[in-house]
Amino acid sequence: MDTMQSLLTRRSIRKYTSQLIEKDKLNRILRAAMYAPSAVNKQPWHFIVVDDVSLKNKVRELHKNAGMVADAPVSVVVCGDENQAHDRVFWTADCAAATMNILLAAHALGLGAVWCGIYPREQRMTGFAELLNLPGHIKPYSIIPIGYPAEQKTTTERFNANRIHVNSW
Ligand SMILES: Cc1cc2nc3c(=O)[nH]c(=O)nc-3n(C[C@H](O)[C@H](O)[C@H](O)COP(=O)(O)O)c2cc1C
Repeated sequence: MDTMQSLLTRRSIRKYTSQLIEKDKLNRILRAAMYAPSAVNKQPWHFIVVDDVSLKNKVRELHKNAGMVADAPVSVVVCGDENQAHDRVFWTADCAAATMNILLAAHALGLGAVWCGIYPREQRMTGFAELLNLPGHIKPYSIIPIGYPAEQKTTTERFNANRIHVNSW
């Protein structure tokens, strides 16, 4: 799949088959995440792989909009290291870029995934920090359930010429 096709055909996939994800595929996805751009190339990210059943069920309780984590064979929590990030603040943008790379890599490998936001919701951040035993400087940013897709999605045209401004508003 070429890059443009991948960008245009990726959709949020929230239903998965029970087929497990090969370790090699997961590692390729995490490798892609680590190739994301980051401010001053600080790469201030950590990735927590969640495949434990009881943990997955706790996520469902904690984050009502991420219930599909319990049905996905694996999820990745993208975390930012405040101490490592440029000016201590750019971890949010860096983690967004890593999250996007995970979605695109999963899609390229024939898998389905969805970005579930944790940051900036304080309650979710606190909940995930406790659940995953995160040190204080490690901030949970997003959780991404990944699995073989059990749904197919298209979208309507999204190109909107009204959103494009040349040289000034
Ligand atoms: C910051 C952010 C937070 C999101 N959080 C959730 C979420 O908690 N649960 C969910 O099901 N989808 C979540 N999404 C996915 C969006 O709903 C989805 O990207 C959007 O509807 C567009 O659909 P598409 O991804 O198929 O293009 C989130 C997306 C972003 C960028």
